[in-house]
Amino acid sequence: MMNGRLYGVGVGPGDPELLTLKAARILRRAAVVAYPTGEDGGAMALGIADPHLAAGVLRLPLPLAFDPQASNEAAYDGAAAAITAHLEAGRDVAVLCLGDPFMYGSFLYLFARLAGRVEIEVIPGISSLTACAALAGRPLAARGDSLVVVPATRREDDLMRLLFATEAAAIIKVGRHLAKVRRALDRLGLTEQAVCVERAGLDGQRVVPMNELTEDSVSYFAMILVHRRGRAWS
Ligand SMILES: C[S@@+](CC[C@H](N)C(=O)[O-])C[C@H]1O[C@@H](n2cnc3c(N)ncnc32)[C@H](O)[C@@H]1O
Repeated sequence: MMNGRLYGVGVGPGDPELLTLKAARILRRAAVVAYPTGEDGGAMALGIADPHLAAGVLRLPLPLAFDPQASNEAAYDGAAAAITAHLEAGRDVAVLCLGDPFMYGSFLYLFARLAGRVEIEVIPGISSLTACAALAGRPLAARGDSLVVVPATRREDDLMRLLFATEAAAIIKVGRHLAKVRRALDRLGLTEQAVCVERAGLDGQRVVPMNELTEDSVSYFAMILVHRRGRAWS
């Protein structure tokens, strides 16, 4: 094991007040703060974390895509090597992650490369899942309900199958896949029970019932929440 410790730090979904006290403490002390760059919102993660960073902190951009389907293995290997060099030099490294690091976060691909080789601590973050539910005023699930989280990147028949089999669902990574999701919800008779939450806690935040959403695409930072009963508590 090396002298430095690696932290995967969840910074929450966007609202700076949704960063935990523990994340703030770790960020204040870290010698190196690494953040993914690209279409992934890494700059957003840095914006959220920025007020908590020490003056002399070394900022390490990591050219990683949020979505592994769009990522390339070499970029993750390079990022893992850059982080390892700092750890070997005895410096603690905090890698920023929007929301929670282990909820579809890019950090988990670094974790996959470094677990067992370096000391790692994951600092859970408030996930977009619960932030979107709170913003929309829609409890996710209750009692014996199952809750499915499914990326909109899945094939339409997969979406149909997964949505058919659950009481509650959160469809993430909506972006340009909106039309496909809309068709699946329509065919299952779930459109009236669904709401789209876009950019929760960020500029341009909005909550729109699916039956009022006219566009063919929304932001990548959008999710659709649906509950078969309409209201989780009824
Ligand atoms: C790769 S996942 C990362 C999730 C993140 N680790 C978390 O815990 O929230 C990215 C997806 O999370 C959802 N998401 C993340 N931040 C969001 C926000 N502020 N508002 C709405 N959805 C968000 C979107 O569906 C987006 O496509």
